[in-house]
Amino acid sequence: MTIEESFQQMFSSPPEVMVRAPGRVNLIGEHTDYNDGFVLPAAIDRAISYAGRRRTDRRVHVFSIDFNASVEFSLEGVQRDSQHSWSNFLRGVSKFLEADGHQLPGADIVFGGDVPREAGLSSSAAVEVGAVAFWTKLLGLTLDPVYVVKLARRTENEFVGVPCGIMDQFISALGRRDHALFLDCRDLTYRHVPLRADVKVVVCNSGVKRALAQSEYEVRLKQCQQAVAKIAATGLAVESLRDVKLSDLRAARGVLTDLLWRRAYHVVSENQRVLEAVRVLEGGDLERFGALMNASHNSLRDDYEVSSKELDALVELARKQPGVLGARMTGAGFGGCTVNLVRADAAEAFAQAVGRGYQEALGLNAEVYICRASDGALVPA
Ligand code: GLA
Repeated sequence: MTIEESFQQMFSSPPEVMVRAPGRVNLIGEHTDYNDGFVLPAAIDRAISYAGRRRTDRRVHVFSIDFNASVEFSLEGVQRDSQHSWSNFLRGVSKFLEADGHQLPGADIVFGGDVPREAGLSSSAAVEVGAVAFWTKLLGLTLDPVYVVKLARRTENEFVGVPCGIMDQFISALGRRDHALFLDCRDLTYRHVPLRADVKVVVCNSGVKRALAQSEYEVRLKQCQQAVAKIAATGLAVESLRDVKLSDLRAARGVLTDLLWRRAYHVVSENQRVLEAVRVLEGGDLERFGALMNASHNSLRDDYEVSSKELDALVELARKQPGVLGARMTGAGFGGCTVNLVRADAAEAFAQAVGRGYQEALGLNAEVYICRASDGALVPA
């Protein structure tokens, strides 16, 4: 059943508006966004959709298809709901829109989709961006896209309580079909970079939920801040790891513990890899692009230490397959997915071989998605 049909069944009338916000896969630039750095994600062809209509009161009645549950809340004094935590994204978005002066009507809403949860494909960002897009469309508002992205991220940071960077919400809102998006997370300037049709972005889901992801994510965030403070204390004018060059980092090695050095080295080298990756993608050198993806994984595994046994196994298997250009973990890590760049004519065989090999090696089932980069929620249909 489609979301529209579910709405019809639940509320006995067709929805007034429909919106769709995609999940994402990050091609390169991991754990750089909260360091003011560079990222290169793409929106995928898996999304969260909302269907809804106005009510005449100030109550929101929302049904989650994926949780097969519904809740009702008032727009007066929106609170977190620890029992139905899936509703907090919509609650937070509604609260912050109202706080910014957008008076919302009550609404009947159905939402759901096919972005796997806790798989590192940003289903939360899709739910948040979808919620902002839903209200925007229902009210006929024209909002600045960067405001929409920031509001979605603020919901995650301040209402849901996850201290993420801005990448996921940005790409879910502003991705473009058949393109990746090169984003400078400091000034939020961006450009779309075409993905060629002769290669496929293949995502392998380790099936392992991202246990530890949140606590370890916060630890990494703090370690980056500590490294910046130590480097700044040597007299360098740096506000974030974005400002640190490899030569600066080497010069400051003596003031960093081995752990902080490795964390900082990952971020500083990853930013350089993103800049080169964009250049070679635009120039058509996909072999080099793949090599940079491989180097990114190794750095996340060895220096940033956010990979896992399952992700490493998927990457090792991938690198042995014909037609593969590069393979790495994607997203926060500690479970979730890998992203692979594979020649289009080899993609199907790749998907099967990696699935089989993972089953043989670890006895686990990996879902494999051959993705097509798609439009973000704010791109007109
Ligand atoms: C999660 C966060 C992003 C980003 C990545 C790591 O997806 O939500 O902001 O930090 O991890 O690159």
